[in-house]
This record gives sequence, C-alpha cells and structure tokens, in this order.
Amino acid sequence: MTRIITASLVLLSLSACTKDEVTETGDSVVEELPPWAEMTQDQKGAYMASDVTPAMAAIFQAYDAEEYADFNCATCHGSNADATGYAMPSDIHQLSVPPPEAYAGPAVEFMYTEVVPAMAGLLDMDVNDGTNDGFGCYGCHTPEQ
Ligand code: HEC
Ligand code: HEC
Repeated sequence: MTRIITASLVLLSLSACTKDEVTETGDSVVEELPPWAEMTQDQKGAYMASDVTPAMAAIFQAYDAEEYADFNCATCHGSNADATGYAMPSDIHQLSVPPPEAYAGPAVEFMYTEVVPAMAGLLDMDVNDGTNDGFGCYGCHTPEQ
C-alpha cells in the first residue's frame, strides 16, 4: 500500500535550501510513504498527522462529539508523548487484563467494533483476535497492574 502526504508536511523536515527548491515547483509535490512498519520515525509522525489523526477524530467524534471535540495526538498518546517519543501504549486509561468483553458497555463495544479495526487498518496490521499477535486494545492502553 502506498501513502501520499502533502508537501506542506514534508517540508517540516526539509532544510531551508531544499524548501526553496520545492516551493518553486508548487504545491503538487508529494512524497510516497512506505507501509507503516517500514516508515522512519519522521514519516510515522507525518503520517499520524496527515492520515491517522483526521480519520480517527472522525470516528471518535461520530461516537461522542462533545467528549472528543478536541481530538489530537495527546488523546491517544497521553500527557507525556514528547518525553516518551510517542511510544505506545500511553498513559491514557489503564485497561484490565484480560480486557472487558465487547458487551461490557457502549464505550467498550465502540472500541472493539470501530477503534481497533480502524487503527489496525491504518497501521497495515491484522486485528488481534486473541489467537494472533495483531493490533488490539493494548496497542494504545497500558495493561492495568
Ligand atoms: C487514534 C490514536 C492515535 C492518534 C490520534 C495519534 N497516534 Fe501516533 N500512534 C498511535 C499508535 C496506536 C501507535 C503505535 C503503532 C505501532 O504499534 O507501531 C502510534 C505511533 C506513533 C509514532 C511512532 C512511535 C514509535 O515508538 O515508533 C509516532 C512518532 C506518532 N505515533 C506520532 C503521533 C503524532 C505526532 C500524532 C498527532 C499528530 C499522533 N501520533 C496521533 C495512535 C495514535
Ligand atoms: C487507537 C487507540 C485505542 C485502542 C486500540 C483502544 N482504545 Fe480504548 N480508548 C482510547 C482512547 C483515546 C480513549 C479515551 C481516552 C481515555 O479514556 O483515556 C479510550 C477509552 C477507553 C475506555 C474508557 C472509556 C470511558 O468511558 O472512559 C475503555 C474502557 C476502553 N478504552 C477500552 C478499550 C478496549 C476494551 C479496547 C480493545 C477492544 C480498546 N479500548 C482499544 C484509545 C484506544
């Protein structure tokens, strides 16, 4: 799968000299991103901003517009993302082990039916079904001690 991100994001990590060259060719300059597992740390950050945050904001806001009106990196990465280098899982709500079943309530059902599949898709990963090492609850939530 290939990804396209706009020049404005790519420019954040380019030197002033390169930036001038790119600007001359206009706004149509794009960079193709490799699959998630092959991205550099800079590409991961750019992809999170260009694709992941808007896509996941739409999903969370459709579920609860008021609660998730202000949806950004910290919503998933927690309060100390700069210090941890955006490592996951984060310091958001700690989750019991094993996780609650999907029918435990609407918030949990939302996590199973919408959040996990959407996030796994954005990361080119399989959904964790309990028998594989795919992406699941603990991709974002730290297991409760
Ligand atoms: C919907 C939740 C969500 C949001 C919002 C989000 N991220 Fe992420 N991010 C993740 C997950 C999950 C991972 C870990 C993916 C994995 O397992 O490799 C991750 C990984 C990363 C990584 C790679 C970390 C590493 O250790 O390799 C960076 C960098 C990053 N995010 C930056 C950002 C930035 C910057 C923003 C805001 C523009 C952002 N993220 C918004 C869920 C999110
Ligand atoms: C892409 C990241 C991500 C994944 C994966 C994820 N969650 Fe969440 N979850 C969140 C965010 C963001 C919140 C809201 C912030 C918070 O409550 O700390 C949240 C909140 C919750 C809450 C608290 C709800 C409330 O009413 O406060 C529970 C319970 C929960 N998740 C369970 C789960 C379960 C179970 C799974 C796996 C099926 C899961 N989550 C997968 C990001 C994620």
